[in-house]
Amino acid sequence: MDGDIVPWEKATIHVMTHSLHYGSAMFEGIRCYKTDRGTMIFRLDAHIKRLFRSAKIYEMEIPFTSEEIVKGIKSLIVANHIEECYIRPIVYYGSDEVGVNPKGNKVHVSVAMWPWLPYLGEDGLRKGVRCKISSWSRIDQRSLPTMAKAAANYANSILARTEAQKLGYDEAILLNTNGFVTEGTGENLFTVRDGVIVTPPLSAGILPGITRDSIIQLGRDMSYVVKERNISRGELLVSDEVFLSGTAAEVTPVREIDNDMIGSGSMGPTTEKIQRKFFEIVRGKDPKYFKWLEPLK
Ligand SMILES: Cc1ncc(COP(=O)(O)O)c(C=O)c1O
Repeated sequence: MDGDIVPWEKATIHVMTHSLHYGSAMFEGIRCYKTDRGTMIFRLDAHIKRLFRSAKIYEMEIPFTSEEIVKGIKSLIVANHIEECYIRPIVYYGSDEVGVNPKGNKVHVSVAMWPWLPYLGEDGLRKGVRCKISSWSRIDQRSLPTMAKAAANYANSILARTEAQKLGYDEAILLNTNGFVTEGTGENLFTVRDGVIVTPPLSAGILPGITRDSIIQLGRDMSYVVKERNISRGELLVSDEVFLSGTAAEVTPVREIDNDMIGSGSMGPTTEKIQRKFFEIVRGKDPKYFKWLEPLK
């Protein structure tokens, strides 16, 4: 917390923290994986860059440099003796002043980490998950910028995910206010039809996912045609394959949407190849992508 290593139970903040009241926190979700060359952090630079961009959108001045935050994350992994974990940096306003305008509050930076299994379950990773098209629309970009990974955006995700799980689904897929597909509540979305991989563009109102960016690159390296364009709800249902991507969810196939089977109802061949390559890369098995792995020292 602000540069100090604090025991988990002592890592507390005041109840009047601005970001608790108004959602004015920016955060990241990063994973590190065990490899033959030791623990490696996946695309750390890209995550830190996104954190600073999120803060810029909200005119939030982070009182540490990227290098200092990187150093803090690495030393915390070492101090915790963790080989594989999920890393959660968060930038938030303190409790100096009450009121919506945050400017009178100090900006704080904390990093937490914990071992986290695949977010949509081991079973989901292998067999696919069941999704519901949410009755909630994805936040309109005239209201909140989806480019920023801001805590406030997750109120929209909470509504959609709670609804989906209450109705027995694993995850929600949100359409935007124009009816186009955007993303899951914490994952980007891809479809495969006739061998072509398609994912919604940033302009659809999605978080610029780092896993998404990695899949676009590795998909093209694997000679797939990968397109960023709008996807309609109907097109989604006639896809041969659908999968979700994210730091927490990694590469998770979708086997059903609103009780309609997608493709054969199990992980499709393209998803399987992308998923296999993704895990090879993060576990340091493909030298071509060593550039995406950040060692602890
Ligand atoms: C709404 C949303 N979309 C997409 C993603 C995937 O982004 P990334 O691959 O950078 O984890 C996340 C997770 O961070 C998210 O919360």
